[in-house]
Amino acid sequence: MPQTEQSADKIVILTGAGISAESGLGTFRDAGGLWAQHRIEDVATPEGFARNPALVHQFYNARRIQAAEAKPNPAHNALRRLTENWPGEVVLVSQNVDGLHEAAGCTDVIHMHGQLDQALCATCGHRWVAPMEMQVGATCPQYAHPTARPDIVWFGEMPYHMEEIYSHLAQADVFTAIGTSGQIYPAAGFVDEAQVAGALTVELNLEPSAVVSRLEETYFGPASKTVSTWVDALLREVKPA
Ligand code: APR
Repeated sequence: MPQTEQSADKIVILTGAGISAESGLGTFRDAGGLWAQHRIEDVATPEGFARNPALVHQFYNARRIQAAEAKPNPAHNALRRLTENWPGEVVLVSQNVDGLHEAAGCTDVIHMHGQLDQALCATCGHRWVAPMEMQVGATCPQYAHPTARPDIVWFGEMPYHMEEIYSHLAQADVFTAIGTSGQIYPAAGFVDEAQVAGALTVELNLEPSAVVSRLEETYFGPASKTVSTWVDALLREVKPA
């Protein structure tokens, strides 16, 4: 492991909930995951928020507190080592809203599904640092609209930074998906974009994802192990300048 060529210079990485599982944060679709405990339509849709904002705030407040207490694990740390030491470009796109890549020291993470530590005004689009516990009717600090919400991309909403992500995928030499079930689009379709660009495609996951047959290299096991091994092997190939 791995067969990834060291000549590849632009690596685009997509992370999902599985990379944070060993930090104690629950995934969505594993047994006992978040979507087994909560109805998506109640807590992760604009309609759910309109119906019962208190319930939605309660859900994200709990997740915000849990994420703030969590520590990055060896998989997050390995990706920081890669971003620091890979001679080419490394683009980190995350579906995660937890901030553990930043806690590990990664900068410029593209958060396509938003961030728990941010609040968003549903009226004017202003963003600010979310308090640990958001309240119903909290106002936007810019124009005092009473429409503050968690800055999370809900089902039925457009993920963030899509143009930028597709442009990176179009130039990728390697595309690696880590800890994601491949069930949610558009992220699940990134492998196809990368393949069209001629990139080598890699999956690192606990078990095969829904799109595993579309990836060329696959390594299964806990992210703390597979990501560290993959990164170490890549960095061993880097020749000193
Ligand atoms: N190491 C690596 N992978 C793991 C680990 C682990 N320790 N534990 C679980 N996994 C894998 C699971 O096998 C699964 O394939 O992580 C994946 C988690 O899948 P999901 O729960 O579906 O999470 P994700 O793919 O990130 O979900 C995508 O769906 O509900 C939305 O917005 C939410 O961003 C989320 C999106």
